[in-house]
This record gives sequence, C-alpha cells and structure tokens, in this order.
Amino acid sequence: MKHFDPDHNLTEDEITELMSLAMLSPTAFNIQHWRFVIVRDKELRKQIRSVSWDQAQVTDASLLIVLCADLKAWEKEPDRYWRNAPGPVQEFMLPAIDQYYRDHDQVQRDEALRSCGIAAQTLMLAAKSMGYDSCPMDGFDFDAVGKLINLPDDHIVAMFVVVGKGTKAAWPRPGQLPMNEVVITDRF
Ligand SMILES: Cc1cc2nc3c(=O)[nH]c(=O)nc-3n(C[C@H](O)[C@H](O)[C@H](O)COP(=O)(O)O)c2cc1C
Repeated sequence: MKHFDPDHNLTEDEITELMSLAMLSPTAFNIQHWRFVIVRDKELRKQIRSVSWDQAQVTDASLLIVLCADLKAWEKEPDRYWRNAPGPVQEFMLPAIDQYYRDHDQVQRDEALRSCGIAAQTLMLAAKSMGYDSCPMDGFDFDAVGKLINLPDDHIVAMFVVVGKGTKAAWPRPGQLPMNEVVITDRF
C-alpha cells in the first residue's frame, strides 16, 4: 500500500497491541535484538521523508516504525532471554549464544537482518488483522536516518514499516515469477 490517510491516527491501545504482536516474532536463541523506533515527532517524520526519496508514506501513514537491531544484544545480560527456562536449558543456551556470535561480525549482522525481516512481516500481518494496511520500505539513506534517530554505534537500521489506513488499492502485482523458477525441489 502506497497511499495512506494522513488524518488517521492509531489509538495508544492499538499501537500497544500491534507492538505486542510484533514482539512475539521469533529470534534465534531468543535474543530479541530488534528495536522498534516509532517516530511520533512530526518534524522528525518530515526530516526522515526528506532522506527517503520524498516518499509520501513516510509522513502520511499513521505510524512510521524504523526497525533497528542491537548487534550486540547477544552479549548484553543474555541470561534475561532464558530466565524462565529450566536450569539445564540455561546452562546449555548461554555458552551456545556466546560461541555462536562472538567474533563473528557477519553472523551478528545477518541475524539482525533475518530477525528484522521476520518482525516486519509480523507487523504487516498484525496490522492487516487489525484492519490496517502497511508498506515495507528500504528506499532511504540509511546513514542519514541513523543520524536523525541517534542510532547507537552497535545498532543497525534494517528497514521501515509504515502502517495506516490505505486510501487507494495497492498497485496490481507488477510481474510475478512462475512457481517453477522460485520453488526448487531438493537441489539447484
Ligand atoms: C525490503 C522492502 C523494501 C521496500 N521498499 C519500498 C519503498 O521504499 N517504497 C515503496 O513504495 N515500496 C517499497 N517496497 C514495497 C515493494 O515495492 C512491494 O512489496 C512490491 O512491489 C510487491 O508489491 P506487493 O507487496 O503489493 O505484492 C519494499 C518492499 C520490501 C520487501
């Protein structure tokens, strides 16, 4: 969806419901490293639009959510992620987390993007279930957006999801590939 009613707002309860659902998205080792920046400041929304190819959804949608990830969440008190698990599970998981991510910068970044991608889809499906429309976006200057939202050094921006009340039908699908090109059986 590319066109949104600029006068519509989600209620605080709706925002809480939407974000509660997004937070149920799975993450490897349950590290929950996504950070969802909801941009409420109208001036900041305009500044972000100006570094997002002037795309109208950035200011017209009810919510602009900048999906970010903490690349170092795996080493920030990781016992939090397993505190309700049985002792032996904790004893297995905590060293496994450390071993999986430590000194593996590419793995940390890949994992962040995987998790944000899944969370973005959760947000979009949850929004739809609440009667709203959405648009995933990466048409923006990542460094400029990072500066505008004071992105910490050990975080990255993954993408935006905007959510709101659509005012026009989505564009027709512009060119779906045939299933036999994208679905592979057993081996390439
Ligand atoms: C990662 C990602 C980034 C996207 N970035 C933009 C964007 O910046 N602006 C935009 O209007 N649409 C953006 N889209 C939407 C795609 O253009 C759209 O999903 C695609 O054309 C297929 O249309 P459909 O989702 O209606 O099937 C993006 C989609 C994805 C998955």
